[in-house]
Amino acid sequence: MNIPVEKPVLVTSALPYVNGYCHIGHLRTYVPADIYVRMLRKMGYDVKFVSGSDTHGTPIVLSAEAQGVTPDEVITKYHAHFKQVFKELHVDFDYYGRTDSETNHRRTNDIVTKLIEHGHVYKQSMKQAFCTTCVRFLPDRYVEGTCPYCGESARGDECDQGCGKHLEPGEILEPHCKICGNEADFKDQEHFFFKLSSFTDFLLFYLDTLGGTLNARNYAKEWVKKELRDWCITRSLEWGVKFPGRDDLVVYVWVDAPIGYISFTEELLKARGEDERAWRRYWKEDKATIVHFIGTDIIYHHCIFWPAMLKGAGYSLPAVVVASGMVKIDGKTFSKTRGDVVWVTEFLERFHPDTLRYYLVAQSSHTKELDFSWQSFAMRVNKELVAILGNLVYRVLSFAYNNFGVVPDGVIADEVVAKIEKTREEVISATEDYEFKKLVDAVMKLADFGNSFFQREEPWHLIKQGDQGRERCGEIIKNVLQLIKAICILLEPVMPAKMEEVWQQLSMEGDVHTVQLDELFVSIESGKALKEPTRLFEKVEL
Ligand code: 2FM
Ligand code: ZN
Repeated sequence: MNIPVEKPVLVTSALPYVNGYCHIGHLRTYVPADIYVRMLRKMGYDVKFVSGSDTHGTPIVLSAEAQGVTPDEVITKYHAHFKQVFKELHVDFDYYGRTDSETNHRRTNDIVTKLIEHGHVYKQSMKQAFCTTCVRFLPDRYVEGTCPYCGESARGDECDQGCGKHLEPGEILEPHCKICGNEADFKDQEHFFFKLSSFTDFLLFYLDTLGGTLNARNYAKEWVKKELRDWCITRSLEWGVKFPGRDDLVVYVWVDAPIGYISFTEELLKARGEDERAWRRYWKEDKATIVHFIGTDIIYHHCIFWPAMLKGAGYSLPAVVVASGMVKIDGKTFSKTRGDVVWVTEFLERFHPDTLRYYLVAQSSHTKELDFSWQSFAMRVNKELVAILGNLVYRVLSFAYNNFGVVPDGVIADEVVAKIEKTREEVISATEDYEFKKLVDAVMKLADFGNSFFQREEPWHLIKQGDQGRERCGEIIKNVLQLIKAICILLEPVMPAKMEEVWQQLSMEGDVHTVQLDELFVSIESGKALKEPTRLFEKVEL
């Protein structure tokens, strides 16, 4: 979608639960979002990029209980871990917060209070799984059992092994307590419900106007057309944001987690010294474009619950939802217990972060499933980064350094300008369509062209043909250097660290990270001293 360049843009990435280490399955939301943000900035947009740790909900409390520590200890450890991973991968959030912040408690309280005041919340007694051995109610992941829709084993809040449906409290069949393993009972408890069903017409209208990837819009529309059930928004837990006026209940984690997007915007703008009400431009006054990057597993939450909640509380609505396909490993779903998992820190001990960033977008189109394998990773690196891109840069820069020592003189050929212009257009339209694979493919095609142009013009013969030959040779080299400069700018969003290396090898001034796309057509300056180049990428041996 073509989003207006005059309005500021807020890009968010789904918040990871911080109860474990980051694996490559997580990255499919963060890396493409970072690429998108960098590219929009190159296109002249004013973009803020926020995310943070999802600190509430039963996954965190269960991990803490299992380790005999407090939820805060678990969160603090993994929050720091995720921040470190993002830093190493150059996923540059403007702000990375935590949903247990004071701001998020306050903002959640405000939104839930507004929903109550506007008549969107009602109280109802309902059957909840209860463990008579542990003498406690069993919310969400404290309970395991059978999915009432497909019959597969499921967790209390989600059919994770079968149909993937969100399960409301009390729906799961044959509940078992996750703490002691005993069969659980059902017992009545009072809870609060959000009247999601009354938002059906609004959602159908909203989803028709929603930008982003088709998978998000279409899945959500189908669910809304089928029937929306009201949504239980409280849990009997200690850890979380208290439901207004009730000390015994917290709000469901899926209420306060997306509200984190608002709180982090507030916290960011405050940290930058902006007016206390500046966040309202984004979330109250419709003066910005809100873009969410998520995985397909949480489309329901972002395209149904979240816009209904925002609408009901009188907040601005997201304009775009981009949903990535899930990541598999050698055709299998991630599983820590089976060992089908690739930890990001272990990956980064062996390989450059930019090779992973590249792989994640080059391997498959954003909405499709990505099947990670070491073979396909090695192929992408060896056949594309080493053989095409690395080869072009090293070969041409070495030739230029050895024969001229400076950027030679010459005119940039129309053919070269046309290729750069075409690639620029392809890159922009790929960005607007969230087709990050098309984006890298287009630039790699330009690198391919660079290699064949160099090969075709045979500068190694020209250099031996007197003054005229040397002059013509210089012109060819200058043209290929211009192509490398363009590739560098266009690939910076994908491989920021590697492209900074190239930028320096080209002796370019300015900052490749902030340079705009117009710079593509600025002739590389002749006479600038070149440095001795080094190879950009190493081959991956399996
Ligand atoms: O599914 C998850 O991992 C959630 N922690 C995502 C939350 S995204 C947002 F809504 F907060
Ligand atoms: Zn199911």
